[in-house]
Amino acid sequence: MAKDKTNYVCSDCGGISPKWLGKCPHCNAWNTLIESVAESASTTKNRFAALAKTAEVTTLGDIDAVDMARTPTGHEELDRVLGGGIVEGGVVLIGGDPGIGKSTLLLQALDSLQRNGKNTLYVTGEESGAQVALRSRRLGLDNSQVKVLAEIGLEKILATLHAMQPDIAVIDSIQTVYSDQLTSAPGSVAQVRECAAHLTRAAKASGVCIVLVGHVTKEGTLAGPRVLEHMVDTVLYFEGDTHSSFRLVRAIKNRFGAVNEIGVFAMTEKGLKGVSNPSAIFLSQHAEPVPGSCVMVTLEGTRPMLVEIQALVDSGGPSPRRLSVGLDKDRLAMLLAVLHRHAGVACMDQDVFVNAVGGVRISEPAADLAVMLAITSSLRGKPLPKGFFAFGEVGLAGEVRPAPRGQERLREAAKLGFTVAVVPKSNAPKKAIEGLTIHAVERVEQAMGIVRELG
Ligand code: TYD
Ligand code: MG
Repeated sequence: MAKDKTNYVCSDCGGISPKWLGKCPHCNAWNTLIESVAESASTTKNRFAALAKTAEVTTLGDIDAVDMARTPTGHEELDRVLGGGIVEGGVVLIGGDPGIGKSTLLLQALDSLQRNGKNTLYVTGEESGAQVALRSRRLGLDNSQVKVLAEIGLEKILATLHAMQPDIAVIDSIQTVYSDQLTSAPGSVAQVRECAAHLTRAAKASGVCIVLVGHVTKEGTLAGPRVLEHMVDTVLYFEGDTHSSFRLVRAIKNRFGAVNEIGVFAMTEKGLKGVSNPSAIFLSQHAEPVPGSCVMVTLEGTRPMLVEIQALVDSGGPSPRRLSVGLDKDRLAMLLAVLHRHAGVACMDQDVFVNAVGGVRISEPAADLAVMLAITSSLRGKPLPKGFFAFGEVGLAGEVRPAPRGQERLREAAKLGFTVAVVPKSNAPKKAIEGLTIHAVERVEQAMGIVRELG
């Protein structure tokens, strides 16, 4: 078979050029051409394509819609983010910082699948077989029957998959895999994209479930192209502070289940253990309330979780800093403007730092009210009352908007012993919740007033 030719594809417009150019000849974008393999059986050979019979078309109603069979991995928290387990022919991309626990979790999952009679393969490109074996001993997986292949050549990996026909294969990591067909270095955008595409095709053709491990760049995106995320069925991200033992695995895309579902794990001496009741782990333990701290209830997937938001407002220099960890920085600037305009709280000449405790990342706007209350609390040097929490989105006009599924959030906080809340008016329950005093507000100034009265 003749070796496939390489050509260059524009990542913006998809236009093809036979050689590398600085500027795409089709859309004139700069630096967008990426090396790729030209399919040899394409255009030139198929001159009679137009005469081919049409493909068969069916109506949706006639297709038997059998739900995908899922195989649970045996790790409940992982199954939750996967939407119940692994799916035949499904391709999962799992990303995260180095050392956060990707290899550990996948090795544990493979081992329990293997013990349940599945045929599993772990392809390691980063570590030697001995290193993987060492890790499995450390994890207490004695006499593990997981098959290991230390290989980075795509063609060899594909041939092994074809010959072995495993039920699930983990490729750790996609950045180390390279194809002979391309001249670019392993880990380059072209290689990563091409290899992932081949592996995805192999998964669909043979029904093996493939898990690709991907590294995350300093900017927080999966190294290599975002295009990987489009190719695969499920994208999971590991989050969390490497300094704390808690790890979150978040589904940001899932063709077989809900997105934004999270799994919570704790890193122990013997690997990652699922945490089935994560609600209270993101609260720091203050004996007495301290200024600059406000607890909120965030909804991660289907689970409400209590998270402490901390703020520090300190006199700044001529150009004061605004810094946020785990929360959106632009949103912080917006909230400070709303605070000034609608509640008369000025932080113009102050440095403002906010942090979501425990390394969680909160993307939902329901954190707004808690962020504002933490900031004012720090500015005044007055703590919020004991057992206090708040949630709600704040708009530019100073209105407080409801958060989705408010009742669940309130009930979760009440369950954990919280007693006072400031929440959006439409989230206030019709029936009182035992042990909980709820202050319903429509505007930020109202929320500030209530807190001032309470403290
Ligand atoms: P690892 O799975 O190698 O991370 P990744 O594949 O995402 O780069 O995780 C390695 C870290 O986890 C390392 O810092 C040591 C720690 N660890 C434990 O705390 N307990 C364990 O049982 C194992 C295997 C690792
Ligand atoms: Mg690893």
